[in-house]
Amino acid sequence: MHITYIHISYIYMSYGSYKNDFPKVSELRPKIEFFIDREMELRKLRTLVKSKNKILLVGLRGYGKTSLLVKFLDILEKEEKEIGIYVNCLRIYSGADLLLEVKNDIEKLDILEDKRVVEELEILAKLITNPKDALDNVFKKLSEIGTRVLIFDEISTMVQRFALQKPFRGAGGSRAVAAHLKSLIEAYDFSIIFSDTSISSLHELFEDYTSPLFRVFDTKIIIEPLSLQATLEFVRKLLGIKHVSLGEEEQLLISEFSGGVPQYIKMITALIDREMDKEEIMRVIDRDMEQGFLNEYFTALLDKFPWNEQEVLFAIAKGLERFSEINNQVINAAQALESLVRKNMVVRVRKSKKDVRYLIRDRLFKTWLSLQETPRYRKLSLRRAKLYSLGLEAMTREIFLTLEKSVLIRDALGREISINPTREVRRYEGALGEIDLIATTVKDETYIGEIYGGITCKKEKIDQLLRNIHIAEEMGYRNIRGLLITYFEPPEETIEYAKELVSSGVDIYILTYDQLKMISKYSRIRIW
Ligand SMILES: Nc1ncnc2c1ncn2[C@@H]1O[C@H](COP(=O)(O)OP(=O)(O)OP(=O)(O)O)[C@@H](O)[C@H]1O
Ligand SMILES: [Mg+2]
Repeated sequence: MHITYIHISYIYMSYGSYKNDFPKVSELRPKIEFFIDREMELRKLRTLVKSKNKILLVGLRGYGKTSLLVKFLDILEKEEKEIGIYVNCLRIYSGADLLLEVKNDIEKLDILEDKRVVEELEILAKLITNPKDALDNVFKKLSEIGTRVLIFDEISTMVQRFALQKPFRGAGGSRAVAAHLKSLIEAYDFSIIFSDTSISSLHELFEDYTSPLFRVFDTKIIIEPLSLQATLEFVRKLLGIKHVSLGEEEQLLISEFSGGVPQYIKMITALIDREMDKEEIMRVIDRDMEQGFLNEYFTALLDKFPWNEQEVLFAIAKGLERFSEINNQVINAAQALESLVRKNMVVRVRKSKKDVRYLIRDRLFKTWLSLQETPRYRKLSLRRAKLYSLGLEAMTREIFLTLEKSVLIRDALGREISINPTREVRRYEGALGEIDLIATTVKDETYIGEIYGGITCKKEKIDQLLRNIHIAEEMGYRNIRGLLITYFEPPEETIEYAKELVSSGVDIYILTYDQLKMISKYSRIRIW
């Protein structure tokens, strides 16, 4: 009894600290207190909307689709004095809901003076019950008031709900809804943005050639995580609001855990309620992943997948990457993997005909999976999970693993090196020591890397790299090129030291964020 009480109160407490952070279903347009980055996406939306494009916006859960759209409408209204309407489809259950929701959004527009349409929509909502007529009238009214863009956020939800109602029900269901939407999109000449979290639903609606909406769209925008710099800015901002100050390395650690996903940045920073060192930060994250809100969040996320996809996700998270390995563990693995790839949860990497591998895109989710104890797999520690799947180090290995063509770059010392696709990439940990990166390339070179995940890369890291090279030679690797990989520009001292070594004939390079970014352009895993 006592234990139950503690458990409940713990969850309640941790929920308390989040409750203002989550977009509520009951909200119209969520309010944006501050907005970080997304400059490129905002610019793109502006240009596309100006030329009346039909746009598809895709992004995993919590990546910031809704925030981006609402911010965009803000700018559109304030700077261009244009009308944009936002519909949160999660709130729409019926035709009347749609009419009322559009009315609510119009009511809040500052630039529209003549609000007669508000009353008209209210009356229509009383008269119209079916979703088809509601859609017709919404498009018509919006066109009359000179709307520039209409946004349907979480569109697949609305399509599925409308499909079950007359006249769509019995007349083709979601196909009929899609066909009707297509006719409206083509009849009116304002811009439309459809956004959704479920990539497979979007795919079914817009990219499956049998769907009526196939190719109705001009552009697809994919939302990626925020960049490392933007993530750091976000973390600082959130900490500032709470008057908590953390050191730079600690801020970087939080960013690393978040993977640049806005929702995760918020959830993790919410755990920091006072000054903490790295050890403490790891501890609170570990605890939350085990019994706090992060655990609740990922349990719910896992629940959304059918059981055989869950089994595959566990297998990958526990370290099985190759198709052959996964297929040994899971019945019908091929089908589950294909579905996970379509949902964008998993990336397929084809190294050769016989060597196909799978990576889980969402690193924090992968980490949570690896922390679970299951009958078949051991629980990993957070520290190991971070090393192998979560942090910048793991990302770097994934970039090398999924590189698809050779990239010529100039390193931080000003030397040119061609980074070639790899056959095998791994981390070594054994009797001889530890090496962060061992990558053998298709040209039979071996990249030996020391990856530094902190901010100030001291010259000792170069000594560490030299030791790694030495170990690799003992292990029998030949044709070695040493890479010191650090995310921030190293201090002058480190550069000088490396230059001296190079001039005495040592073949080492220093790669920083810029070089990795170049490489990741040709790789399946994007740097964030
Ligand atoms: N660029 C940003 N600047 C500041 N906060 C952001 C930004 N992007 C997202 N957020 C915050 O991160 C959280 C998740 O963002 P949002 O709800 O926009 O994501 P989403 O992709 O719409 O998620 P879902 O799939 O759950 O609808 C929100 O609390 C939001 O305020
Ligand atoms: Mg959203």
